[in-house]
Amino acid sequence: MEKQLLEVRNLQVEYLGIPIVKNISLSLGKGEIFGIVGESGCGKSTLLSAILHVLGADGRIVGGRIFFDGKDMSLFKKEERRRIKGEHLGAVFQNPGESLNPSRKIETQFYEALKAHRQISKQESRKLAADMMERLNLEHGEELLKKYPFQLSGGMQQRVALALAMIMDPELLLADEPTSALDVTVQAQVIKEMMEMRDKFGTAILIVTHNMGVISHMADRVAVMYAGRIVEYGDKKRVLKNPSHPYTRSLLNAIPDFSGNLPKGLDGNPPPFGIIQAGCEFAERCPFATEDCKKIIPDLKQVEEEHFSTCMEKGD
Ligand SMILES: Nc1ncnc2c1ncn2[C@@H]1O[C@H](COP(=O)(O)OP(=O)(O)OP(=O)(O)O)[C@@H](O)[C@H]1O
Ligand SMILES: [Mg+2]
Repeated sequence: MEKQLLEVRNLQVEYLGIPIVKNISLSLGKGEIFGIVGESGCGKSTLLSAILHVLGADGRIVGGRIFFDGKDMSLFKKEERRRIKGEHLGAVFQNPGESLNPSRKIETQFYEALKAHRQISKQESRKLAADMMERLNLEHGEELLKKYPFQLSGGMQQRVALALAMIMDPELLLADEPTSALDVTVQAQVIKEMMEMRDKFGTAILIVTHNMGVISHMADRVAVMYAGRIVEYGDKKRVLKNPSHPYTRSLLNAIPDFSGNLPKGLDGNPPPFGIIQAGCEFAERCPFATEDCKKIIPDLKQVEEEHFSTCMEKGD
């Protein structure tokens, strides 16, 4: 198999001893766009934070491995990890405030990021930053550069954070809900720019979103997460056209409700974290669940070429 840019193998993450990400594996090739969807609280941001090694004091990787460009990231020294992050990984966090430094002007943040990579003048940095912001539909870039993050709206902060990540030409961009605060037309522009970045520079993108529309537009492959596990994944077209898991189908039934609301027709909530369930975590909410479903945690099985699911119940 060709070497993958990012490979997550059997990853298990806990917060305060409670399993949040449960045995997740995924891989991403160069220039590939991989989408992750799933209801609020299923562990999507935790997965990204684990990949970036920013889980915080309460979080811990308790199992599995993460490889970047074939190298085990857990073996990196702090300095090396910082260098990889600065040079090869771009990240946009769900809360754009986390991606930006609150006490520095936007122009300083661009300058410092660019300066760490190469020789650049402040003037040149301002020009590059303003151009990138304009591509993401942020007008009056020159004026925005003079501001502090708190002087911008959430949607503007989100795009500044994305511009800051994109301007560095990362090999891999990890983006957590990068368009959630944007209205639909701006969202379309931002998606177009991310895809262009991939087409021009071969950037791989791991994108987390509630929005199946974003997935169907952008992603090459998609993984559906439920209660800390991937329950279905594969080639985007195959998964969306022929969803095998009842949970994926209920998410798809939510289209065209792009607001991020809970899927229509799906009652109840995911099981609370910390309750260890014997069987499939979706069984409680699943109209097709059998007694067996409540006993055994199902493995991912092949549905068709480039398409895997933990459930084969077609429901028709
Ligand atoms: N810093 C933290 N300390 C303790 N628990 C946390 C922390 N961050 C997240 N969690 C818990 O981990 C679980 C998964 O949260 P996570 O933010 O990964 O979900 P998500 O899929 O990104 O949800 P959303 O779609 O709402 O962003 C939740 O139960 C959450 O309360
Ligand atoms: Mg999240």
